[in-house]
Amino acid sequence: VTDFDAARAFWDAESEHHSHTSWLEHPEFSLYALRQIDPVNAEWPVDWFQIWLRGRRFRRALSIGCGTGAFERDIASHNLCDEIFAFDASYASLRAAGGERGTGHSPTRIRYFAADFNTVTLPRRAFDIVFFHQSLHHVDRIEELLIEVMTSLRRGGLVYLDEYIGPSRFDWTNERLQPHRAAFAALPEHMRAVPDLELPIQQDDPSEAVRSSDILPLLRVGFDVRAFRPYGGNILSVLYPKLKPDALTSETVDALIAADRKLVQETNESYYGVVVARPRRGLAGWLAARRYREMAWRRKSVGGAPTATRDADALR
Ligand SMILES: C[S@@+](CC[C@H](N)C(=O)[O-])C[C@H]1O[C@@H](n2cnc3c(N)ncnc32)[C@H](O)[C@@H]1O
Repeated sequence: VTDFDAARAFWDAESEHHSHTSWLEHPEFSLYALRQIDPVNAEWPVDWFQIWLRGRRFRRALSIGCGTGAFERDIASHNLCDEIFAFDASYASLRAAGGERGTGHSPTRIRYFAADFNTVTLPRRAFDIVFFHQSLHHVDRIEELLIEVMTSLRRGGLVYLDEYIGPSRFDWTNERLQPHRAAFAALPEHMRAVPDLELPIQQDDPSEAVRSSDILPLLRVGFDVRAFRPYGGNILSVLYPKLKPDALTSETVDALIAADRKLVQETNESYYGVVVARPRRGLAGWLAARRYREMAWRRKSVGGAPTATRDADALR
């Protein structure tokens, strides 16, 4: 079983039964995130993006790693694009996406197809915008995919990501987890679902956070970042799945948000962020593509990043 088969099986199952929880499901934590994206209106990222675009719309969009299509239906309901092409590796997710109608009437047409984002070849100059919604942090061959994205965009095209950009699964150490463990230990026992916080490495999905900490540095090689809205989650995303949300008091919620904000400030890094970027063109674009190719070649020649299967061995 390859990492790809394991990731597909995981997401096929996940499309039917949601087994993992996210800090953004909690209303207070999600409001904390939204206030960082849009301090004035605390709007959802797509609302913020629509304001940022100042009336601009797109003819054709591509969405990479679309899952069951909630984000694409959201984009459609904002009438931001004429048509959206969207792909994922999970057939079960795509079936679910295809069966959803979405809310209200939208003229945007969504077409789904199956592909592997680690090996996909995209048509040249075909799209006006490429979306990643919580999917780029599952990509192993980021350099190759970003070359594809660069060449698939038409003149003036944009990339939009709303992503986990925090530590990769291979970055975690006990030292790095120390602030999280301290915040967890400070909680009363009845609010904790487990006695201790283990390294947050998801064993059932080998694609989870496979190279998330490489996303921003690699994006900057070939793209100019036009907007960056970091929204934290440094403490909350790690602790939330190990908490009993119904047991949390408003004081605890506030304390956890304060701990999250503190870690973001102290480390000057945010685990989550919305990014809008434009591909470099001309000579700069050509040099960037060459750099991506060199980096990809070097990764291959040294055996690449550890795969999740090897990562499980290393943890044993
Ligand atoms: C966290 S989910 C995000 C789904 C969706 N964009 C959303 O926001 O709900 C990650 C998605 O990446 C997809 N994925 C994982 N490995 C993939 C691969 N090699 N090629 C294409 N999609 C993949 C999974 O099937 C899953 O739907």
